[in-house]
Amino acid sequence: MTTLRAVFLADSQLGMYATFSGMSDDDVAAYAARGMRVRKVPPVTGHEWDAGQYIRAVAAVNALRPDVVLFGGDMIDDPNRGDQLDDFLRLSAAIDRDIPVHWAPGNHDAAPDTVVPTRESLAAYREVFGPDYYTVEVGPVRLVVLNTVVIDHPELVPDEWQAQRDFLEEVLVPGDRETIVVGHHPLFVDRPDEPDTYWNLPGERRGPLLGQIHRAGVRLVLAGHWHRNGIAWRWWYRGRSGTRLVTIPRDSASSSSPRGSARGTGISPSTDPAAYDHH
Ligand SMILES: [Fe+2]
Repeated sequence: MTTLRAVFLADSQLGMYATFSGMSDDDVAAYAARGMRVRKVPPVTGHEWDAGQYIRAVAAVNALRPDVVLFGGDMIDDPNRGDQLDDFLRLSAAIDRDIPVHWAPGNHDAAPDTVVPTRESLAAYREVFGPDYYTVEVGPVRLVVLNTVVIDHPELVPDEWQAQRDFLEEVLVPGDRETIVVGHHPLFVDRPDEPDTYWNLPGERRGPLLGQIHRAGVRLVLAGHWHRNGIAWRWWYRGRSGTRLVTIPRDSASSSSPRGSARGTGISPSTDPAAYDHH
């Protein structure tokens, strides 16, 4: 196999529709001020709506038959709700057994308050999904999976951040295989030097990490969290949310939605690593 066909999914976030339902005009305006687009819908409970979306995504995966599924975190909305997790795992089990799935933790999976991870929350995540940062070879590609929840907020687990930093030092090196980095939080949304926001990783850790990623020759970093399709690398566009099919031939990378609503695009590496090292 010289080409990897991968489906990247993220933010199925079972329960989120209910969390954001029943908002007032003031609530919607407050979220808009934080860069979040919330639609006014009548209040609901449970996670049927999100589960319905995820069932469609799983069906798309089984129809597309990719070589691998990469899941970029935020599988459920409330990390303290066993029913959401149980249903997520039950629905995920419908992915054809011969299609491997590799998971990356999101803030809604690995932090009890959905922001700051703890020793206990990381242990609970690992018990269900396995390692939270790791490398694995799939076909012609090496994946480096990050726990961006810890990179975003390492304050309660500094040793975890140190251990992941050591790991990245070891694995983010030039090799003879195409390397793809997968994580939950985007490194940045528009520009590598943009200010810190809820949506990106803090510049203090983003800069050095971008430098490492660049020096390792990585040309594709996949992330969720943003809930809006976007491609950020010198230029960007936004498209519909949804299942994305990423095709990575030997000398370029492209991504498109299965319905073709987002056009495929080449992704080129920056030629200026120094720009990323000094934030
Ligand atoms: Fe998230």
